[in-house]
Amino acid sequence: MERLQKVIARAGIASRRKAEELITGGKVKVNGQIVKELGTKVSSSDKVEVNEIPIQKEIPVYFLLYKPRGVISSVLDDKGRKVVTDFFPNIKERIYPVGRLDYDTSGLIIMTNDGEFANVLMHPRGEIEKVYVAKTKGIPSKENLRKLEKGIMLDDGKTAPAKVKVLSMDNKKQTAIIEITIHEGRNRQVRRMFEAIGHEVLKLKRERYGFLTLGGLTAGDARELTPHEVKQLRALAMETHQKKS
Ligand code: URA
Repeated sequence: MERLQKVIARAGIASRRKAEELITGGKVKVNGQIVKELGTKVSSSDKVEVNEIPIQKEIPVYFLLYKPRGVISSVLDDKGRKVVTDFFPNIKERIYPVGRLDYDTSGLIIMTNDGEFANVLMHPRGEIEKVYVAKTKGIPSKENLRKLEKGIMLDDGKTAPAKVKVLSMDNKKQTAIIEITIHEGRNRQVRRMFEAIGHEVLKLKRERYGFLTLGGLTAGDARELTPHEVKQLRALAMETHQKKS
């Protein structure tokens, strides 16, 4: 279910604000009835009309973006910083990112205009495996890494078990490159996990999302997901969901 103004905006008829005006102005019908309430939610099976004309739903599109560092995972930034949609200048559909990567984190992010698909992927019970590579300040001890594997207490609760692998260490510079695999998607989770064991993350990159990798792409590149990949991602999220229930 999605808010009516969002559905109208996504159909490309009007901005979100203009869509609100159309609703309050009595120009919008849902299943033949005029709806003036802004909070109204509709599903894909509801028939929405604006000025008596049924809205044309956008064709769903799906992309994988290699987000560079220094980019906001949003469609707009009030401070004028670069946002993920800037990498899709020729895409007319209103796409947005599925989940977030921090401004300073690079790596794989999915972009779509399919709200239902985004919800399936982001559902806390369907959270897909994500692989990050972190460069840490200082070299974490085995004991501390074991804490990350088992789950560590953060201010929003204990993290689920993670997989951790040390890829390399630089004794001279006192840094380490560590691969960490998690399922959850809490805010700044990987950075906070390392902070909890006393190590700042100097660099962070998401290398894998389920079975999707950055293979062949460089920072700033995007590619369309194949219909098969979209189907597989949906199946993977549902499977994870079922395993946990
Ligand atoms: N964990 C973080 O700390 N940052 C991200 O961007 C993603 C996961």
